[in-house]
Amino acid sequence: MKITVCTLFPEFFDQFISTSIIKRAIDAGKITFSCVDFRAFTTDKHRHVDDTPCGGGAGMVLMCQPMIDCLKAVRTPNSLVVMLTPQGQTFHQSTAHHLAAVDHLILLCGHYEGFDERIRSYVDMELSLGDFVLTGGEAAAMVICDAVIRLVDGVILSESHEDDSFENGLLEYPQYTRPIEYDGLRVPEILLSGHHENIRKWRLKESLRKTLHQRPDLLQQRSLNREETELLAEIRQEEEEN
Ligand SMILES: C[S@@+](CC[C@H](N)C(=O)[O-])C[C@H]1O[C@@H](n2cnc3c(N)ncnc32)[C@H](O)[C@@H]1O
Repeated sequence: MKITVCTLFPEFFDQFISTSIIKRAIDAGKITFSCVDFRAFTTDKHRHVDDTPCGGGAGMVLMCQPMIDCLKAVRTPNSLVVMLTPQGQTFHQSTAHHLAAVDHLILLCGHYEGFDERIRSYVDMELSLGDFVLTGGEAAAMVICDAVIRLVDGVILSESHEDDSFENGLLEYPQYTRPIEYDGLRVPEILLSGHHENIRKWRLKESLRKTLHQRPDLLQQRSLNREETELLAEIRQEEEEN
């Protein structure tokens, strides 16, 4: 997979691409990552990328020409162009899966007051990290790249993300590692039993319990199979009794 980030601040990504799993994915050739500074596409001698808003008001708006010329230079028929904007659809794990299957992902990072509206005619998708406003798209691009890269085939073992939160519409079950006891807190006995079926069932139940407590909205959006319905009824009964 190829990822191109169009940004005024390529140096933001130096640490990102030279650390941990992202670095390994790039070194192994699973990901080709590059940043393109769209200031390089300016045509005036002062290399302006922004100008004051038409109609007046505070701040500076990113101009069409450098950004659109940059896009024309980097996009191919296999590219998906994603604008990072608080006005886009919210990025979810399902979006990460969708993007991980793309040949060439182009991410456009805004800054200042954001993009001239006409740039939107040149993008395929608009994504937001959530209902808040960042100073620039670089942090959003890094979050999206991180979530996408770990899903690309061969970057990490698929078993490592199959049980992750949101993969099956639930939060992940509680995880423990050694020591078995720490400061009076013990790992649940069932996880030490070696009984795979009982462990699977316990994990499913605790995954449902966590989701019920922390993200009940996820349960409302998901249909439950018979086993899950029974486990949820058990949880509700246990909690009524306590
Ligand atoms: C200060 S923001 C501009 C916000 C714009 N004036 C608005 O109200 O919609 C500058 C840039 O940061 C990025 N950005 C800000 N918040 C974001 C979010 N929640 N998700 C993704 N990108 C965001 C976008 O690229 C945006 O163009």
